[in-house]
Parts: sequence; structure tokens; C-alpha cells
Amino acid sequence: MSDRRTAEPGPALPQVEMHLHPPDRPARGVVVETYSCTASPKSAAFVRHIVLDVSGSDLPGRIRAGQSFGVLPPGTTEQGRPHKVRLYSIANATGGEGGDENLIATTVKRTIDEHWETHRLFLGVASNWLCDLQVGDEIRVTGPNGKRFLLPARPDDHDYVFFATGTGIAPFRGMVRELLSRPDHRSKIVLVMGSPFGTDLLYHKEFRALQDTHPNFTYLSALSRESQPDGSPPMYVQSRLGSHAELFRGILSTERGLVYACGLAGMELGIVQGLYRLLPAEEFARYVTLAPGLESDPTGWTRRMIPREIAPTRRMFLEVY
Ligand code: A2P
Repeated sequence: MSDRRTAEPGPALPQVEMHLHPPDRPARGVVVETYSCTASPKSAAFVRHIVLDVSGSDLPGRIRAGQSFGVLPPGTTEQGRPHKVRLYSIANATGGEGGDENLIATTVKRTIDEHWETHRLFLGVASNWLCDLQVGDEIRVTGPNGKRFLLPARPDDHDYVFFATGTGIAPFRGMVRELLSRPDHRSKIVLVMGSPFGTDLLYHKEFRALQDTHPNFTYLSALSRESQPDGSPPMYVQSRLGSHAELFRGILSTERGLVYACGLAGMELGIVQGLYRLLPAEEFARYVTLAPGLESDPTGWTRRMIPREIAPTRRMFLEVY
């Protein structure tokens, strides 16, 4: 993989700091805000935007959009061991939530499931604890983590396509805000957010408001279990590459283009296939390097071919889980 990745130069990334607070020396975070960030209370999902004050720790000013931080849930596992660190993406721009570097934000979806065999209720430990927290509650925070899923060191030299499914939107909330708040910003930005239903879209009003006030920012949604507001059929995020082909070609056909995807594992294959159908071979090669023999037909490609046979270049940033 490394050989192919080095073939296509990517943007220089900023230096980041990591592990300022390891699990044995966590920072203290205090909840200062927590609100539901789904488009409608009718959503079957419970997702909260949670803001923590980390003043007094080593974190203020030293954590970038695209990085994550850890939380240490209180209590122990069924085996009596302390809970392990859980990582959550930063949802604010570098510089802190609302420009206050003491504040870091994240996006947390309650994990509520039924065990496939026993049909017993399963509740995610960390996500439900985080979503239960009230303003004023204290938690233990670790990190920062991550040094690859970042905006480039020279952000204005690029145009951006961001694909998110579900809470994969968190880093893009930060990145979009960061890019749009730059003086004289000129990057073109397209954000595609995928959700089952319109009620589940995250930060929907916020992105619509940003689109209304920034002509270089386009916000698209992709609903997978109902028709789109314009009547077109259910779709995944990658289908937007086809429905808005000119918009995406305008960004991705130049040297400035970068692609980011964050969310459900599996989305990266659809995006790569969509890019293949959108772009001529020499432009596609900026984003993805194909092993010999794969060039002619993307329908037979599988996820397991990524990254060995279908190798994203350094112009494509993937964070899937
Ligand atoms: P679906 O679940 O209808 O198959 P959430 O995390 O809020 O459930 O949203 C995840 C979104 O990503 C859903 O709309 C889900 O669709 C969609 N999704 C699932 N698999 C893929 C995939 N392989 N590529 C793109 N989107 C996907």
C-alpha cells in the first residue's frame, strides 16, 4: 500500500500533538452544554452535541479538528476491570467550540440495540453515560488522538468534498466551520450527509444556515430509507456524485481537490466506485490507485480490495468504523 500511496503527492499536514493526557493522567472536563442535534425530535436515534470545558488541563489550544479525544467512563466492566478509553471525534473547529479554546465538543449517539441471539437489550456503556450527563457534571478526558485525518497545513490551496454517514459528521462540522471562518476563504466545499430519514440528519439547520451565508459551501443530504425532498428515490451519500456530477467534477477535476469520508465502514467502497464513474481515468488516479486488471469495471470491486488493490492516495482521507 505504501508504495502506491507515495506515487501521488498529497497535501502537507499540520504537526499535531497527541496523548497530552494519557489514561493514567486524564484531564478534567466539565459539561457546559448538551443538546439533541438530530433534525427532528421524531428521529428514532438519540444524538447529542456535548460541549466540555477542559480549562486547567493541557488540552486548550492543542487539539485540532479531525482529531479525537478519549473519555473514561466511571465504574467497572462485568469482569470488575476499569472501563477502557472510548474515542470520540472533535466536532468543533481548531480553536475550540465557539472560538473558545477551553471548550471541546463532540457528537454522541446512544447505542441502543438488541442482542441478535438472546434478544436482550444492549446499551452502550460510554455513549449512554455521556448522553445522560447534565451541565456541571465532570468527566475524565484523554488525548488528543489522531494525526492523519486533518485539514491540510495550507487549507486555502484546496477544495473539499466531505462525505459523512451518521455521527461521522462530527469532524466535518469542525472542518467546515474552520474553513469558512478563515479570512478571505476561497475554497469550494461540498458536504454530503447521509442518514436513514430526514429526521435523523445531524446539525441540519446549522449546515443550511452556513450554506445560505456562504456561496462557496454546498450542503447535500442523502436519505437511505425514504425519498429525497425533491422526490428522487432513497440513496446513499455516494449517489450524490451522480446526481450532482457537475458540481463534484468542478471540484475534483483540479489539482486543488481533496476527498474526505467519515462514518460507517463500507461507505468508502461506494465512494471509490462513484468517483470512478464520475472522473476520467487520469483524474480518478489522483484519488485512487488501482492494481493492474481492475481498471475496466468497478461493479466487481469489494471492500476487501481496499487498500491493497484499490489504494486511496494521499488526496483521499478515510475514517471509517
Ligand atoms: P441504511 O442504514 O439505510 O442502509 P446512521 O448512522 O444515522 O444510521 O446513518 C448511517 C447512514 O449510512 C444510513 O443512511 C445508512 O443506510 C447509510 N449506509 C449504510 N451502509 C452504507 C454504505 N455502504 N455506503 C454509504 N452509506 C451507507
